[in-house]
Amino acid sequence: MSTNNKSIKNKILGLKKRKNAIILAHYYQIPEIQDIADNIGDSLALAKSSLDNKADMIVFCGVYFMAETAKILSPEKKVLIPDTEAGCSLAESCPPEDFKKFKEKYPDHKVISYINCTAEIKALSDIICTSSNAVDIVNTFGKDEKLIFAPDKNLGAYINNITGRDMILWNGTCEIHDILTVEKVLKLKEEYPEAPLIAHPECKAQILAMADFIGSTSALLNYTKKSKEKIFIVATETGIKHQMKKHSPEKEFIIVPSEENCNCNDCHHMKKITMEKVLYSLEEEKFEINMNKELLKKAYEPIKKMMDLSK
Ligand code: 13P
Repeated sequence: MSTNNKSIKNKILGLKKRKNAIILAHYYQIPEIQDIADNIGDSLALAKSSLDNKADMIVFCGVYFMAETAKILSPEKKVLIPDTEAGCSLAESCPPEDFKKFKEKYPDHKVISYINCTAEIKALSDIICTSSNAVDIVNTFGKDEKLIFAPDKNLGAYINNITGRDMILWNGTCEIHDILTVEKVLKLKEEYPEAPLIAHPECKAQILAMADFIGSTSALLNYTKKSKEKIFIVATETGIKHQMKKHSPEKEFIIVPSEENCNCNDCHHMKKITMEKVLYSLEEEKFEINMNKELLKKAYEPIKKMMDLSK
């Protein structure tokens, strides 16, 4: 680590202590940020972490909907995001006005929304899920209940497939996972025939059909920790490799590339958060997540239902 980086890190750690702040980071963050975080996790683990702490302030190193969720769950805390432009293609794919009209077409349907959506979409939902509890949440509904799943059509189709349901799907995708192709996976499988393919359920159905294991970022990480295999083909965002390598330095992780010589499956939103921005965020207490009380309350109910079912 360079002297400058060391000094930024020390300043962050000092300010964190002085302000009774914690840093929560998603697995897709850059390694330096993962290394200074109080908690690293997938979307569900981070939502839980935002509740299970005695901090006055949370610096959320992830994307906007994650920081927003932390605020909804812990409205008494100051929740900061170091860059407000750290968005999410899934959340953007589902504008509340359009979704409201879509929902009106199916008045007898319940709405299950993936946590990768705005607070407004959450407020229009009956319950929220993440990639680690989606199947369990959907299965809390009777087989005959009519359901809408938003906004990720790949995750929705995967759940339809394994639960035998016919949920109506909103047409959204994660630009990082949706861009991965069968051709690239086949090429890697040819190169590493023994390596299992492990995939995030935001990938396309054709890729999931080839996978040896499908799970959230935490589940993928756990799989690599427990498995006796030495090489893994990993179909998700690049950031997870840091923890995989940290926990299993003797193993090799081949991240499925979207294209040759491109970093297209580096989530440019996640990678907007830098050490410098985290320091600025703590120094200036910026950028604070705020929303009106009514929205906060309406978005809380469906998240709370999920949290109660995921204890
Ligand atoms: P998980 O954190 O639930 O694995 O989902 C990944 C993701 O969508 C991050 O935006």
